[in-house]
Amino acid sequence: MATIIDGKALAKKIRLELKEKVKDLNNKNIYPKLAVIMVGDDKASQVYVKNKSKACNEIGIDFEEFLLPSNTNMETLLNLIEVLNNREDISGILLQSPIPEPLNIREAFNKISYKKDVDGFHPINVGKLAIGEECFVSCTPLGVIKILDEYNIPIDGKNAVIIGRSNIVGKPLSQCLLNRNATITVCHSKTKNLEMICKNADILIAAVGRQKFVTENMVKDGAVVIDVGINRNEQGKLVGDVDFENVEKKASYITPVPGGVGPMTVAMLMNNVIEAATRQKN
Ligand code: GUN
Repeated sequence: MATIIDGKALAKKIRLELKEKVKDLNNKNIYPKLAVIMVGDDKASQVYVKNKSKACNEIGIDFEEFLLPSNTNMETLLNLIEVLNNREDISGILLQSPIPEPLNIREAFNKISYKKDVDGFHPINVGKLAIGEECFVSCTPLGVIKILDEYNIPIDGKNAVIIGRSNIVGKPLSQCLLNRNATITVCHSKTKNLEMICKNADILIAAVGRQKFVTENMVKDGAVVIDVGINRNEQGKLVGDVDFENVEKKASYITPVPGGVGPMTVAMLMNNVIEAATRQKN
């Protein structure tokens, strides 16, 4: 039976550490502040933003929300980002995705100063990650690496298989693991022999968006299984991408959903905002 990774407890511990860090910064007259832009009234986004606001509040990070109506045009959105880029009191800017059509989210992400890009979505940060330079890394991959480190799970020399090649999770996570000397395979919808590839993984990461996608026949005995999926099952319950009940019997470590990677993502966002504030004052 696997050790079930307690992402909720770990995230809480990290938030307490970050709270102390903010106190130290405040003593040096540095006040980290996150600006969140939300366009339209996407219900899931409202929940995510509320969680981010709560975490900021708990840690002592200032928080300012910019709610734009769904008929906002690109020029207005870009102008707001420009204003926030230039505001010295704002350390980090997060544009909550999705935004309504026909707005172009990539153009908007690219407009955010890479120095305030706490999501790690700007091409400069993506490029810096690829060449192993200090940069902002998107929060979910960062949370996964933090979980592995906190549970003393070695990465160096291990076979890591990632299912999913998104710009938010799969691609940056592959770079993070490569920078830590893992051997990486990134699988996707066109991958052949998926089962065989996954079965070779010491660390198997699922970021697909389909419940019970990872079944026990795809998992090597003793593998570390990290579930990044967030899905609703037929009963409306939150579930990941992994058939938890059966895979748990084979894995050495496994993250549950909820309570695994999810809480770590918000904690890593807080980490990035504090990091942004620190770098801007140096
Ligand atoms: N929407 C869902 N997840 C995210 C995220 O990590 N960052 C942003 N900006 N929007 C999101």
